Amino acid sequence: MIKLSDRLQMIADEIKKGETVADIGTDHGLLPIFLYESGRCPKVILGDINKGPLEKARENIALHFGADALDDDGNHACGGALALRLGSGLEPVAFGETDAVVIAGMGGILMTEILGLDLNHTKSFKKLILQPRNGSHKLRWWLKQNGFVITAEHLVVERKYICEIITVEPDLVTTDPAAESPAAIVLPEDIPDEALDLEISPLLYERKDPLLVSFIKNKIRIEEKVVGFVSEGSGEGEGHERIAAANKRLAALRAKLALAEEV
Ligand SMILES: C[S@@+](CC[C@H](N)C(=O)[O-])C[C@H]1O[C@@H](n2cnc3c(N)ncnc32)[C@H](O)[C@@H]1O
Repeated sequence: MIKLSDRLQMIADEIKKGETVADIGTDHGLLPIFLYESGRCPKVILGDINKGPLEKARENIALHFGADALDDDGNHACGGALALRLGSGLEPVAFGETDAVVIAGMGGILMTEILGLDLNHTKSFKKLILQPRNGSHKLRWWLKQNGFVITAEHLVVERKYICEIITVEPDLVTTDPAAESPAAIVLPEDIPDEALDLEISPLLYERKDPLLVSFIKNKIRIEEKVVGFVSEGSGEGEGHERIAAANKRLAALRAKLALAEEV
């Protein structure tokens, strides 16, 4: 059985036995291979915008299941249980074709563009598991504005980074491809997050995530560096404002840390 990284395993664990999945931006295809090989998913679509990653996924499929597992066209494997599709975002997946969609290892802003292209299409899937590499607060803002409910949040370490895994459900599952999609609300330049709830999800406190304290401490370390760096420059005018803003954020982060250490 293929051994996944802790990050991919945590994503896999958000999928229930019997669910079908589309893995968008699959790259190496390791997650779909695991989902099928472990018997958790009867059907998995491997989507990617680039040919190179799909080729890599094909090679990994051949490595795990044997070259015979692939059809002649190389776009299906394991009797059609694995389907490789070239295309951007959800475009190569039909309305409601799978129960769940995974989008992992891309920037949060790119995810909002993929999800917002056709809201009805995106909401035709019952569950989305998102693992943004950055901009997670922007993604959470977008999800909330566009009618998605965050049902679970998890943190997991990969190399020296703490990754965020966000599981969401549409507030209303729509399956009519003919219905006109409402235009998605797009990200503004600036997202106010005074309470830091978009950055540090309250669900992580509720679930007492074991990495929550380290996650906040990392943010504090970065902000302390900003204060040190700006202070070395100028303490006047614009520099003064930046130091004041960074200190305000530091105070808010320390309050969040104190709360996390209590739970
Ligand atoms: C860093 S890899 C992530 C691989 C895997 N999902 C993971 O988390 O380990 C990002 C992949 O997303 C693909 N990608 C980028 N933009 C995309 C888009 N708009 N639609 C589909 N795939 C995309 C890239 O080609 C690449 O294979």
